[in-house]
Amino acid sequence: MNAAIRAVVRTALYNGKNVTGIYHGYQGMIDNTMFDMSSRSVSSIIQKGGTVLKTARCLEFRTKEGRTKAFENVQSAGIDALVAIGGDGTFTGAEIFSREFDIPVVCIPCTIDNDLNGTDLTIGYDTANNTVIEAIDKIRDTAASHNRLFFVEVMGRDSGCIALNAGIAGGAEAILLPEKDTAIEELIDMLEHAADRDKSSMVVIVAEGDKNGGANHVAKCVHEKLRHYDAKVSILGHLQRGGAPSSADRVLATRMGYTAVNELLEGSTRVTVGIRGSEIVTTPLKEALSKKELKLNEDLVEIAKIMAL
Ligand code: F6P
Repeated sequence: MNAAIRAVVRTALYNGKNVTGIYHGYQGMIDNTMFDMSSRSVSSIIQKGGTVLKTARCLEFRTKEGRTKAFENVQSAGIDALVAIGGDGTFTGAEIFSREFDIPVVCIPCTIDNDLNGTDLTIGYDTANNTVIEAIDKIRDTAASHNRLFFVEVMGRDSGCIALNAGIAGGAEAILLPEKDTAIEELIDMLEHAADRDKSSMVVIVAEGDKNGGANHVAKCVHEKLRHYDAKVSILGHLQRGGAPSSADRVLATRMGYTAVNELLEGSTRVTVGIRGSEIVTTPLKEALSKKELKLNEDLVEIAKIMAL
């Protein structure tokens, strides 16, 4: 997010526009926590995880009263247009607020889950993947030393993008995905076949949205059948949400921030920027919010199975 904030500020200033930073997202618009931003306000943040503008989920913004209060503050701050960085909750709020008060808004897709429409990649996804494979590599060291079976639970809500991508990059023996119905029996088969192929240690990636109910439960069920395995569970949790952004994320966020400002200058509104292949594109928010793109790459699912040999 910080790389995107920096790009928005510097592109706007470059075009002779003033920039106001709003802390805590929509909550900050209601609480009027705003400040003027300069080029120095965004110095030395591109390498930082998290967001210097802080963030918050704001229930009050879901009410007309809340949005009206927000708009009064936005107006008195002299703000003509908004760039909103976030996930589908942010998109929904932007679409409604912009229509209600006729204020131009452009969104930037940002979530580690990579579950937003209108883009192949969301900001934060690549960094989260790198964090997960770093953890898998460390767990692999101890799994191999002890001939152990590890279940590693990763974030992603209902999306298996992190689990699949990091599972392949981490050389996992099996990957449980929310988009797939892998029964415990099927998983046990996979593990027994791996053992037949003389695999003495194994790592299973479990997406938090997997229908079997998470790594602890999966490990318990597997252990009931495969008692001879010394099974361990690691839930990676919020360390997937922090850390210095990857080079890919910094460049993607910079391109998206730059484009968001130029879209506003060209009169666009109620769109989200995104990337398709290597092209930065825009998609109407209504469209991005209406249809659910299946992001899971089926080829990768097949490749993951073959790579577990
Ligand atoms: O959407 C990002 C995400 O990290 C999900 O992967 C995870 O399920 C959720 O947010 C966790 O939310 P919270 O930080 O509120 O616990």
